[in-house]
Parts: sequence; structure tokens; C-alpha cells
Amino acid sequence: MRTLVTGGAGFIGSHIVRRLLELGHAVRVLDDFSTGSRDNLAEVSSDVEITAGDVRDADALERVANGCEVIFHEAAIVSVPYSIEHPMESHAVNVVGTLNTLEVARRVGARRVVFASSAAVYGAEPTLPKVESMLPAPISPYGVEKLTCEHYLAAWAHLFGVETVALRYFNVFGPRQDPSSPYSGVISVFVDRLLAGRGVTFFGDGRQTRDFVYAGDVAEANVLAASARGVSGRAYNVACGRETSLLDLATMIGDAVGRPVVRTFEPARVGDIARSSADIGRARDELGYAPAVTVEEGLRRLVAARRA
Ligand code: NAD
Ligand code: UD1
Repeated sequence: MRTLVTGGAGFIGSHIVRRLLELGHAVRVLDDFSTGSRDNLAEVSSDVEITAGDVRDADALERVANGCEVIFHEAAIVSVPYSIEHPMESHAVNVVGTLNTLEVARRVGARRVVFASSAAVYGAEPTLPKVESMLPAPISPYGVEKLTCEHYLAAWAHLFGVETVALRYFNVFGPRQDPSSPYSGVISVFVDRLLAGRGVTFFGDGRQTRDFVYAGDVAEANVLAASARGVSGRAYNVACGRETSLLDLATMIGDAVGRPVVRTFEPARVGDIARSSADIGRARDELGYAPAVTVEEGLRRLVAARRA
């Protein structure tokens, strides 16, 4: 089938692109390269139609989406703290960009939109593990934006018959995650610092937890969500199903790198969630999702990729 991956030059998007190509699908990418790069698609670039453009630009989006059966919508501003500092910009890209994608999907007759939602929709309510039947209560602009998008997806499925699936990714890690910005994901930052012989900084006491999931498993979840039956309008947790504290994570990364870890502590981030872990039963039962890579194995692969 012909597919479009918005944000396909980004970290997760580049894993989805590779998985789609492996399965023999035709792949187009729309990306503004704000955080993604052509390098992320370097060795597959001759097999992908890559277009520079903004998801808020309806005409550009419609041109690349025309003829596509499934749209994987990954393009977004992905940082929780950035959304607190720049809520208008974050809203414009994350909400208006998604609404634009739904409208374009309807106009070009795409069968399905698979959306990159987030565990951030659950917010700070302490009950664990997070299950999709819980009432979401986001505590950051980013979480509000992702939840707003989920509601738009369900409404568009109801109103216009565009099939939609929201995947609530927990904390995704793996090769091609950019470590260089102050907003980068914690694993990419810690691995980068340890490989450079530097220490790591915890925002808070390091006891906060996350459910880290390998990017290859997230790509597989997307492929499954593109074809599963009876799932339109629904949301699914995509995680490993295991809770890891940042203190333990740092030790695991130290083991993978083969270096002792020097730790420093700074104040916790505003809008940070204390603990996070997922029940992945719904994705297993309805999508056939089963994570294949443990956190330890994923870290080994990431360190090997960074060294190479
Ligand atoms: P990323 O920053 O590597 O990827 C985002 C991509 O979107 C980049 O290539 C960027 O250039 C592109 N982009 C940004 N704004 C755009 C715009 N206006 N128009 C076109 N392209 C634009 O981040 P990622 O971690 O790969 O995130 C992919 C998706 O997964 C995002 O929707 C993010 O919110 C979601 N998500 C990520 C995580 C995680 O742990 N990384 C967890 C939950 C959800
Ligand atoms: C991440 C994703 C977000 C996603 C969410 C889903 C990124 C950049 N953000 O947010 O898109 O929706 O998961 O659960 O991928 N930390 C440190 N030291 C550091 C860096 C971070 O202690 O050097 C801490 C943070 O304060 C936080 C934890 O590590 O407590 C994770 O932070 P981060 O990787 O930015 O991810 P989330 O905010 O969970």
C-alpha cells in the first residue's frame, strides 16, 4: 500500500519508515526538519519520497497525502517543558497540525490515520499501571494537546468515516533519537553523556519512573494499528509494561557503556510526572502487539549504534 509518514525524518518516524519499507510498502515523508533530519533516512532515501513542508500547510499536506491509504502522523513538538514555555507554538503544531492531517485524510480519501499520542494524557493521577479506561487528566500543555487530538480523531471517525487509531506511546528510546537539545529524551542524553565520559543530571531525586519502550517495538505497533480490524476511534498504550526509575536506568546505561556513573541532582521539572507505567493488555488483545526488546537489550543496541 502507499503510505505517508508525517515527521518521518524524526526519531520514531524514521523507524516506522524502515519497517514499512521492509514490508514492501510505498512510503512518502513530509517533514519540516525542525528536529528531524535527512540523515535519519540516509540509507533508505532512494526508496522514500521525501518532501520538505509543514503539517500546518494544508496544500502541501494534501499534495503528499494524495493517493495514500494510511497516514502515520508523527510530526509534532515532542517536549513537555517546551510546551510549557511555548504553549501557543506547541498548540499550533500539535493540535492544528493534527486537525489539518485529519481534514486532508478526509479530502484525499485515506482509509486510516494512525496518530502518535502520548502517556502524557494520563497526567499525575497516581494509580498505576495506566489503563486506557482511566479518565485522562493531563498536567502539561503537551498532554492537553495530545488528548485534544485523540478527541478530534474519535470525532472524525464518527463523523466522516476516516478510520483513526491513537497510540499512546510511553517513553520511547533507540537509535536516531537526538541527544543534543535541552529538551531531548532522557535516555539519549544519558547515553550521550556517559559515552563522552561525563556524568548525568537528575531533575529531582531520580526516583521518578518511566515505562521505556524500544523504537522498533513502537514501529511494529504502528504497522499493526494500520490494519487491525474493529479498532477505529480507539486509543492504545504502547509501552514495555515495566516501570524503571531514573536511578536504575542510569545504572543500566552505565553497565551498557561499561563506565561508572557520576550523578548530580537539580530541581525537578515543572509539569513532570512522578511515576509512569502501562497496562498493555488492550494493545496485545486488539492489535496483536507484543514488545520484543527489553530495556537492557535496547540499551545495548543503542550504545552499539552510537559507538558505530
Ligand atoms: P522527533 O522530534 O524526532 O520527531 C518529530 C518530527 O516531526 C521531526 O522530524 C520534526 O522535524 C517533525 N516536525 C516537527 N514539527 C513539524 C511541522 N510543523 N511540520 C512537519 N514536520 C514537523 O520526535 P519523536 O520522539 O520521533 O516523536 C514522534 C512523535 O511521537 C511525536 O508526535 C511525539 O509527540 C510522539 N511521542 C514521542 C514519545 C517519545 O518518547 N519520544 C513519546 C510519546 C509520544
Ligand atoms: C517523554 C517524551 C514525550 C512523551 C512522553 C510519554 C521526549 C523528549 N519526551 O516525556 O514526547 O509524550 O515521554 O511518556 O521524548 N530527566 C532527567 N535528566 C535529564 C533529562 C530528563 O532527570 O537529563 C528526567 C525528566 O525530568 C523526567 C524524565 O527524566 O522526569 C523523563 O524525561 P524526558 O525524557 O524528557 O521524557 P518525558 O518528559 O517523560
